[in-house]
Amino acid sequence: MSEETSRLEGFHKKELEERVKLVKENSSADESLDHLVGKGLSNQKADQMIENVVGTYELPVGIATNFRINDEDLLIPMVIEESSVVAAASYGAKLARGTGGFHANTTEPVMISQIQVTGLSDANAAKVKVLEKKDELIDIAEEQDPVLVEHGGGVEDIRCRVLKSRFGDYLVVHLLVNCQDAMGANAVNTMAEAVAPHVEELTGGDVYLRILSNLADQRLARARAVWDKEEIGKDTVEGVIQAYEFARVDPYRCATHNKGVMNGVTAVVMATGNDTRAVEAGAHSYAASGGVYSPLTVWEKTKDGDLAGSIEIPVPVGIVGGATSSHPGAQANLEILGVESAQELGEVLASVGLAQNFAALRALASEGIQKGHMRLHAKNVAVQAGAEEDEVERVAEKMIEEGKVRADRAEEILEKFRN
Ligand code: MEV
Repeated sequence: MSEETSRLEGFHKKELEERVKLVKENSSADESLDHLVGKGLSNQKADQMIENVVGTYELPVGIATNFRINDEDLLIPMVIEESSVVAAASYGAKLARGTGGFHANTTEPVMISQIQVTGLSDANAAKVKVLEKKDELIDIAEEQDPVLVEHGGGVEDIRCRVLKSRFGDYLVVHLLVNCQDAMGANAVNTMAEAVAPHVEELTGGDVYLRILSNLADQRLARARAVWDKEEIGKDTVEGVIQAYEFARVDPYRCATHNKGVMNGVTAVVMATGNDTRAVEAGAHSYAASGGVYSPLTVWEKTKDGDLAGSIEIPVPVGIVGGATSSHPGAQANLEILGVESAQELGEVLASVGLAQNFAALRALASEGIQKGHMRLHAKNVAVQAGAEEDEVERVAEKMIEEGKVRADRAEEILEKFRN
């Protein structure tokens, strides 16, 4: 068992340099961490990543502390512009430590690639023809990515669906591809494009789209944790369950509930150089896949009256390929995390989403979230009003004391201090 701990007391009060030192001491990250501190992505690297580059765009990296996942302590890098998210995740994780933290697991890392076949008068017979040749089609798909196959990945199955459209029946062919540690978008899209002409030949139909599905319901991560009623209070247990029920019966609330979950998930996806839109699309479509848009988490009371939370989300993410490999910050963050597979990263995402949701619901069902938000918000308002580094804290403090966190008041206070 490693000596590293994620329980870094008073981490938020330390100077930035001291935090960096603590992260180095408590994770596998070393020099790579320097890429996060004041350096980041070079223009040259950025120019290789996307088109028409004119520069780069910075965001803060914060470390969520206190996480214990499957009996291991992990420090979790989060990239996000919103204040309070990192603090809330850390707080949720801290309160779950007493009962053992988070227990998480995943399915195999299987992505779905779709082939849309049109112009069929006998779509059901076409389905059977495709499935008759499943093995040959799998071989053609796998020839596109021998490296993936060498690493134990490849096409696990081919499935077909017949869908009624306004233009007659569609046959939709799904390639189920085990992508191992890659997110796999390029691999599965290439496979679908290679298989499509053979599907046309077999069925006599016309293929239009050949693209992965972001409803990645074959690549799921789940996590569960228990929060002790003695530690969080019985009112919090009731409050979180009431908050969950509100989200369950009302899509207006559910959208915000799930947005709160994704505050944590997306921040880690971003920190590791993964595709935030793929994970967001997957999460929300999965939340609606039962026909009703539903919460991504579930909150229940255990027989002892403690609070049990659980989550299941699609995790189309990787730890190799794309920006996860080319972005030095993503590499540093992956080293801090210390995950050894895409599946482990998925387990982290599910655990962070659950902790984030717990912290939001706890705050919302008690004092509200504005109190927690105010300190950082007040500092931002002070900066916007023109406060210099040595004035920010005093101006923010004064506004909080007065209960008036506003730009006009910040300017007045600043003027008064300066005179
Ligand atoms: C804010 O970014 C997220 C919350 O609105 C989530 C929620 O309401 O559950 C606090």
